[in-house]
Amino acid sequence: MDKIKSESVKKKFKLKDGQEVNNNGAVSNEIEVLNGVDLSIRNGEFLVVVGPSGCGKSVLLDIIAGLTNSTSGSVYLDGKKVEGTNIKTGYVFQQYALFPWRNALSNIEFGLEAQNVPREERTKIAKKLLSLFGLSDFWDRFPYQLSGGMQQRVAIARALATNPEVLLMDEPFAALDAQTREILQNELLRIWEGTRTTVVFVTHSIDEAVFLADRVAVMTARPGIIKQLIEIDLPRPRDGNIRSSPEFADNRHKVWNLLKGEVIKAQKDWELASVYAR
Ligand SMILES: Nc1ncnc2c1ncn2[C@@H]1O[C@H](COP(=O)(O)OP(=O)(O)OP(=O)(O)O)[C@@H](O)[C@H]1O
Ligand SMILES: [Mg+2]
Repeated sequence: MDKIKSESVKKKFKLKDGQEVNNNGAVSNEIEVLNGVDLSIRNGEFLVVVGPSGCGKSVLLDIIAGLTNSTSGSVYLDGKKVEGTNIKTGYVFQQYALFPWRNALSNIEFGLEAQNVPREERTKIAKKLLSLFGLSDFWDRFPYQLSGGMQQRVAIARALATNPEVLLMDEPFAALDAQTREILQNELLRIWEGTRTTVVFVTHSIDEAVFLADRVAVMTARPGIIKQLIEIDLPRPRDGNIRSSPEFADNRHKVWNLLKGEVIKAQKDWELASVYAR
């Protein structure tokens, strides 16, 4: 059975009085963000979502997480309609959103506290994750005392702490330098291979998408739908060397060829918006 199923998911937001948006040429006070997203995600799959900025990727993850409702259509998790948040799902947000008043250890313990896991057990799990992400010496530091890459590792550890069946990751590595990014991509794959969590991962990097994914879902410009799913037929386990293979280049071309037109379309909309603004 599919782990996650999205059926005809549409999402609109009502804007504030006086605000306007261009929905495919029609000016309106309601922004059409998603326009019928159909997507089936297999149990244990690593699915990567790519699409132009503003096409609705983060909104889609919020709907899968149960943080916001769809306007119409439904998302199912293990065949059950998603209505509100649930403990099967972990989420790494686009901004890492650590709690500034909690140190690294206690940030990681957060979800376990909410599940009433006893203190000793909580600390054991959090310390194991700190060690896995090379942060053992930093357990008592607050977010402002950590580098961006370290904060992001804490955010990922926090999402993994409750051992979620589904892990939603919204551009988790976007703000990192290229070396840290590659290291964390490798770490993430190793962890995923060990747990077989179902991952839905959003990125703007085609290279990252191809390196990580079982399948890449390419979204259209807003209002977003899934334009096409591409199977990434690269063997696992994967390491950095695979990036220089001709098969890797083939997959990159496939993704970019589908995405290119949508990025251009989204940018045309920006130009249109700037004409309005004049
Ligand atoms: N609460 C809201 N009210 C009104 N509009 C919203 C709201 N949340 C998102 N939007 C709009 O929905 C559209 C999609 O937003 P979303 O954050 O999902 O984009 P995205 O694909 O994640 O983009 P990026 O790649 O830049 O992160 C945008 O045009 C955004 O302005
Ligand atoms: Mg986003």
